[in-house]
Amino acid sequence: MATDPNTVKGYNENAEAYNNHASDPTDSIFHSYYEKPAIRAELPKLEGLEVVSIGCGSGVDTRWLADNGAKKVVGVDISEGLLKIAKANNPDIEYHEMDMEHLDFPDESFDLAYSSLAIHYVDDWTKSLKEAYRVLRSGGAYIFSCGHPIDTAMEYAVEDDTKYARLGRMVDQVTQKRTTFGDYLANEGKGVKPVGGTLGTIDVIVYHRTFGKMIEEVLTSGFSIERVVEPQPTTEMQQANPDMFEQLSRIPTFMIWVLRK
Ligand SMILES: C[S@@+](CC[C@H](N)C(=O)[O-])C[C@H]1O[C@@H](n2cnc3c(N)ncnc32)[C@H](O)[C@@H]1O
Repeated sequence: MATDPNTVKGYNENAEAYNNHASDPTDSIFHSYYEKPAIRAELPKLEGLEVVSIGCGSGVDTRWLADNGAKKVVGVDISEGLLKIAKANNPDIEYHEMDMEHLDFPDESFDLAYSSLAIHYVDDWTKSLKEAYRVLRSGGAYIFSCGHPIDTAMEYAVEDDTKYARLGRMVDQVTQKRTTFGDYLANEGKGVKPVGGTLGTIDVIVYHRTFGKMIEEVLTSGFSIERVVEPQPTTEMQQANPDMFEQLSRIPTFMIWVLRK
């Protein structure tokens, strides 16, 4: 398992809280007013499609996919706790406990693979992308969202009651001393580095990777890249949280990939 075991433990132990967060659009504003509208805008017409949702969590997106026309929706996730909630809330949808690096489906089982904010939990995208490629029918799309490397490259510091997230440089105009903040290139990990964070009460590890590394892993897996979207927040975000709206209008947190087999 390439996902950090403590991340999986965190999701399992806080499954109810995560589901409450993900099910309430006014609580999960990063989803409802930013990431979900952006990823949904990239989806094809779902009518007649067999869809696998990879890292489906407590099933909020699988419900949406089924309610919006998909012929069949199958959800997979590594968290037993989240799947229990998904199954209880959506008895008409099929769920399986699976690691996205080992999808236990025959080749060419689905027309569309969908994944929302899950792939950045694995340290090596290649295995998971190759699995998505294998289970897709020819011409099928893999549409997924993940953390944007601009965001995960930042370093954090708290000074005088203010928390800073920094990526950039500072040059003292008297001494010319140069200080660099953040680490985009992550040379030690050849473009990949673990980044700790919290999602409500859940401690998680996600993996930063450079744009170049992402592209390398996508192309190695066999997919062609149709589009990469760096979304804007919606007007609902402007009303709900104007400061966050301004931040997300200028500095991305997430991005969307549209890949084709
Ligand atoms: C931020 S949640 C997103 C859940 C859901 N897609 C949503 O938008 O509400 C990330 C999900 O990825 C799942 N996940 C992390 N690593 C995984 C892996 N290796 N295989 C399958 N699922 C994984 C977690 O268990 C969690 O449900």
